Amino acid sequence: MCGIIGYVGKQAAGPVLLEGLQRLNYRGYDSSGIAVLDHDGALAVLKRSGKLAELEASISDPPAGRIGIGHTRWATHGAVSDGNAHPHVSDDSAVVVVHNGIVENYRELRAQLGQAGVTCTSETDSEVIPQLMGLYLREGADFAEAFQRVLGEIKGGNAVVAMERAQPDQIYAARLGNAGGIVLGVGEGEMFLASDLPALLPHTTLVQPLENGQWAVVSAAGTTIRDLAGEAVPFEPVKVNLDPVAVAKGPYKHFMQKEIMEQPRALSDCIRGRARVNPAGVSLEDVTLTDDQIRSLRRVLIIGMGTSMHAGMVGRFYMERLAGLPTDCDNASEFRYREPLLGPETLVVAVTQSGETVDTLGAMAQVRDDWGAPRVAVTNVEGSEAARMADGSAIYLRCGPEIGVASTKTFVASMAAMYLLACRIGQVRGYLQGAKLEHAVEALMTAPGIVDQALAQKDLCRHVGRICRHIGHILYLGRGLQYPVAMEGALKCKEISYIHAEGYPAGEMKHGPIALIDRNMPVIALAPRDPLYDKMWSNIQQVQARDATVIAVGTEGDEELASAVDVFIPIPACDPLIAPFATAIPAQLIAYYLATGRGADVDQPRNLAKTVTVE
Ligand code: AGP
Repeated sequence: MCGIIGYVGKQAAGPVLLEGLQRLNYRGYDSSGIAVLDHDGALAVLKRSGKLAELEASISDPPAGRIGIGHTRWATHGAVSDGNAHPHVSDDSAVVVVHNGIVENYRELRAQLGQAGVTCTSETDSEVIPQLMGLYLREGADFAEAFQRVLGEIKGGNAVVAMERAQPDQIYAARLGNAGGIVLGVGEGEMFLASDLPALLPHTTLVQPLENGQWAVVSAAGTTIRDLAGEAVPFEPVKVNLDPVAVAKGPYKHFMQKEIMEQPRALSDCIRGRARVNPAGVSLEDVTLTDDQIRSLRRVLIIGMGTSMHAGMVGRFYMERLAGLPTDCDNASEFRYREPLLGPETLVVAVTQSGETVDTLGAMAQVRDDWGAPRVAVTNVEGSEAARMADGSAIYLRCGPEIGVASTKTFVASMAAMYLLACRIGQVRGYLQGAKLEHAVEALMTAPGIVDQALAQKDLCRHVGRICRHIGHILYLGRGLQYPVAMEGALKCKEISYIHAEGYPAGEMKHGPIALIDRNMPVIALAPRDPLYDKMWSNIQQVQARDATVIAVGTEGDEELASAVDVFIPIPACDPLIAPFATAIPAQLIAYYLATGRGADVDQPRNLAKTVTVE
């Protein structure tokens, strides 16, 4: 979840590292730091708790040196403090390290260090890495030996980047497990490395990610990669097509705002070339499942975390209705530890924007290793670990980079991707044919336009943000396909406005949560005209009878509902399967305006990180 950057070459390293940290600080942003080595081995370590701006403000004179490493932290072990910020150094300052992941056996390693007379000065798990390396150097190992030895000793998913004072021209980098990537970038007479691609894009598009179990020695003169057994791995960087402009904020105040507004385009890009109307059908070029494999499926399991899981909950309806297969959706972190039962007849669909969420990757590995289940990844990041684990069977969202920590455009695109997959499976199985197939595809084609129309209600959403911003709690209610959207709306609200919110199935509300309802509890009711509308209407009556302020998101022209509630936000009339795309928009916008109205940091909410690479 932390961000790592490294540079070696002809430029002054300090500014390159700070600029790289800017691009990475959506990953973690509670502390940051850089270490720069001068050619004569002078080491400058500058670090600060707080936002990156605190570090930048503290540096009046950037340190000299053309090689360095940097880090933006999301605290796991140890408080947010200057001392716990990275980089960490060995007690003799011979070794400096930045780290992402969790050293699961750090207590044991600390005890070993203690026995050898070395005391860690921070509360972090990370510090054991430079301290152990320093110890091994003093015992006679060279840097490569010390690095490799420590890689073999630390447990858990970890990305480690290290420099030795005595070698001011080389950076060592390693990836162990799924704790987050390291991508090497090749410049002209210079090398870069970073946790992910966007940080490298201003400098180079010629890149090579480290695979699990690989470590590299990176220098301007050349780079070598090895596996943990010491076998050489070819260094063959490839050119990637990612537009640096797409990651800029443009005219918007926040990335989240930009990403909300660009959802019609994101959806069109996701659907384009995959769904066709005449003759109706869906093709998914990157899904390598054969028709025979699809016909042998008996069940689908969708896994994901957070927003991706909510999209998966909507996807469950699509699989049942369009593919005709019994489907479950599970939280990946719960699924992997509950000893579930499945087999090769179950298709596992892993939904993960980043493709790097450790729990989702862990569950993906388990379903292959324990049950031989076929897997498809729904992800926004080409070549991500999830895509690779699915043996290339991926549906890429094609959304462009999502920088806002609170996911928005990838939520709608993930739903669209699962809709496409469900149509494809239904088509091959003969479940979805003729007029039914035509209708399904045509309905999906309307989604970008529907989202565009829903965005036109932003002023009403701003109004709701204004009237609710001093409230302590909000209840989101929905039924059927709208229940996952209610959960997503509540998640957005919690994430960025810090208002406590719950997303509830409206029918469950009277089994407990109704006790909370009074005039101080606004209820956001997702009530489009769908087969559950009448039931939803009754639930709205029940909360109104207890004085709740009701904000209803309903179908335009529903005058009866509009006149019955306090605020009515219309969405276009659409097929009920498409309605989650429409209702998601006010849910996102309300959260956005609640947050901005409270002066919250929308793109960097407290305690969160974009990519969660720890359990
Ligand atoms: C969404 O707003 C959150 N940032 C979070 O719940 C996120 O969806 C979750 O961490 C899963 O991430 P992934 O899609 O990259 O796997």
